[in-house]
Amino acid sequence: MIRDLQEEILSLKKKKGIYILAHSYMTEDICEVADFVGDSYALSVRAKAAEEDTIVMCGVRFMAETCKILSPRKKVILSHPLAGCPMAEQMSVEYITEKKKEYPGYAVVSYINTTAALKAISDVCVTSSSAVKICRNIPETDILFIPDTNLGSFVRSSVPEKNIVLLNGGCPIHSQITEGDALFAKAAHPGALLLVHPECRPEVVRLADFVGSTAEIMNFAKGSDKKEFIIGTENSIAAHLQMACRDKTFHVLSRDMVCRNMKLSTLTDVYNCVSGVGGEEVEVDESIRPAALRSIEKMIEYGG
Ligand code: 13P
Ligand code: SF4
Repeated sequence: MIRDLQEEILSLKKKKGIYILAHSYMTEDICEVADFVGDSYALSVRAKAAEEDTIVMCGVRFMAETCKILSPRKKVILSHPLAGCPMAEQMSVEYITEKKKEYPGYAVVSYINTTAALKAISDVCVTSSSAVKICRNIPETDILFIPDTNLGSFVRSSVPEKNIVLLNGGCPIHSQITEGDALFAKAAHPGALLLVHPECRPEVVRLADFVGSTAEIMNFAKGSDKKEFIIGTENSIAAHLQMACRDKTFHVLSRDMVCRNMKLSTLTDVYNCVSGVGGEEVEVDESIRPAALRSIEKMIEYGG
């Protein structure tokens, strides 16, 4: 059944000239039919390069918006209309406009997990894999980092020469994990390396053997000589790694690390998208798109 549906998707996407992008948090059956699977940074770069006129983004809304900002003439379909990222919606334009007045002259660096409207009032976007490099490379010393306090703290400790102001935002999935949870997992699997996403709290990051984006965690685990790992990000990453590396063992840091928004999209949704009856065509208002584009292009320029 799954194979049949996958073959239908592959044939429809070829016939209709559709490019399928999937974030690494998607399930294996979706990743198998995607043209490209990756973290937020790689998805942005690929979205820009894709030649097809239609993109199906299997992920959450800010990712589809990023595609549309980069490729306004393409039709961009979000795999599930209700798939949002709670962190992306946490801060309003009004709130950040007030903060900009409080911190004049500061570069507003926004995590890509933000709305298009917030990107439009930012100076540069970053992703989890590019944030340290970009904050180090931009000319400004003073930075207002929005919205993720944990990613911002990670950047602050990696780039001490910059003055980074943080606000109170974050990912509910990653920030629920406590130092106690991490110590418990390490005690349960004493031979395992702990690999975590920088959206985790600083006290969890401090206990980690490696900190990186979803793709960086996967690459690290695949390339490591070690045989056992605890994965501190959305649980799909542990599942993908276990499929890819049968000679290694992957434990989840917590069973609660499930992003319900990412999990909304199913293979059936992808089929409906390529059939032309599902998903949601995403639009970004032209009044904000050029300014949002500048922040994303600057991210690609400084991120390399
Ligand atoms: P990546 O930058 O690793 O893709 O992270 C995106 C995300 O939403 C993690 O929760
Ligand atoms: Fe957003 Fe967190 Fe889900 Fe990533 S895991 S999409 S940051 S809610």
